[in-house]
Amino acid sequence: MSSILITNIKELVQVRNHNVTIVKGSDMKQLPVLENAYLLIEHDTIVEYGPMADCEGIEADTIIDATDRVVLPTWCDSHTHIVYAGNRVSEFVDRINGLSYAEIAERGGGILNSAQKLQATSEDNLYEQASERLKNLIQLGTGAIEIKSGYGLTVDAELKMLRVIERLKKDFKLPVKATLLGAHAIPAEYRDNKTAYVDLVINELIPKVANEDLAEYVDIFCEKGYFDLEDTDRILEAGRAHGLIPKIHVNQFNAFGGVALGIKHNALSVDHLEELNNDDIEALKGSETMPVALPLCSYFLSIPYTPARQLLDAELPVAIASDYNPGSTPSGNMNQVVSAACIKLKMTPEEAINAATINGAYAIGLSNMYGSICRGKKANVMITKPIPGYHYLPYAFGDHHIDKVIIHGEVQ
Ligand code: NIG
Ligand code: FE
Repeated sequence: MSSILITNIKELVQVRNHNVTIVKGSDMKQLPVLENAYLLIEHDTIVEYGPMADCEGIEADTIIDATDRVVLPTWCDSHTHIVYAGNRVSEFVDRINGLSYAEIAERGGGILNSAQKLQATSEDNLYEQASERLKNLIQLGTGAIEIKSGYGLTVDAELKMLRVIERLKKDFKLPVKATLLGAHAIPAEYRDNKTAYVDLVINELIPKVANEDLAEYVDIFCEKGYFDLEDTDRILEAGRAHGLIPKIHVNQFNAFGGVALGIKHNALSVDHLEELNNDDIEALKGSETMPVALPLCSYFLSIPYTPARQLLDAELPVAIASDYNPGSTPSGNMNQVVSAACIKLKMTPEEAINAATINGAYAIGLSNMYGSICRGKKANVMITKPIPGYHYLPYAFGDHHIDKVIIHGEVQ
């Protein structure tokens, strides 16, 4: 039996009971912390923790001294697009020179640019690129992740992306959830016939993906110039009929009822929400849907930040995720996401850490086994370098604070 005992932990952060699977509104201010603590891991599971005074006599194969260090559950990144080919650095420069994200997309750049590159890239090559990204993310403390398709935009290329995600699931220890985002943009050949593309997604892509069990979730970019409410309604309906749970891109640039529609379809999460109106907030109240903010997307595109305080004031939960993708967020560093949530969304460190752990896990259906320090939960935890305390993580935003990452009981 392999076991790890972490001793002298300065702060053991996010210690929760098993029945806590989501934290909402004013409760998000509370981040339970145990000072001067130990944590015992056996196999892949957290089996015990407590004050150092109770640690005497506990034995383990490996002992890690965490004096002056903070231990937290690993980040749960509920929204990424890490399977992509190459990069879009030239569009980055175009935007600095004055073009908008929408103008770049109109010229055939944007998502269509990534689709062209991805279609021309072999599955093996795509896998190499994506697994390199995933390795780096784990070292930054990500211990559970969702990955979307959406840069294929043909049946074959979307399936290719999902097969890459399938390989990542097999080869990496952390839990990976796959999302079919077939309706991410309108392919050039369907420019004047969007409905035909939506039909293709509904009639061919969704059934194939469901039959081959290649995704848990269905997503759509519900936005002006991309897919409207009717398209969203149809795709979510078709996805659900095939057992795929909705998670949608909505309200990134315009608010026109997509949030309520997502909730009507029991979406597990509604993501982006840079634009948010009262109707959206009202729709979220009483729902089981997690609002997800993506602050690094706002940072990179210089667009408004999700008004997280409005959500919290309405006693709603908030999760934060990276949105790692080549166009709007070429970074998956969850430490930066937490920091941006504090600095730009005006979330306290406690709220931001709740948003990036337990609520992130909820947004990918994993919060019963991940996202908090809890007896019986999977041992996905990280140990920082010596730091003054957990507030220091978002404060010293440019430093790399994570020293060791443990996934399912194994030091990575
Ligand atoms: O979540 N908004 C839509 N999709 C991605 C960006 C896609 C891209 O520009 O490649 C996002 O930001
Ligand atoms: Fe996204």
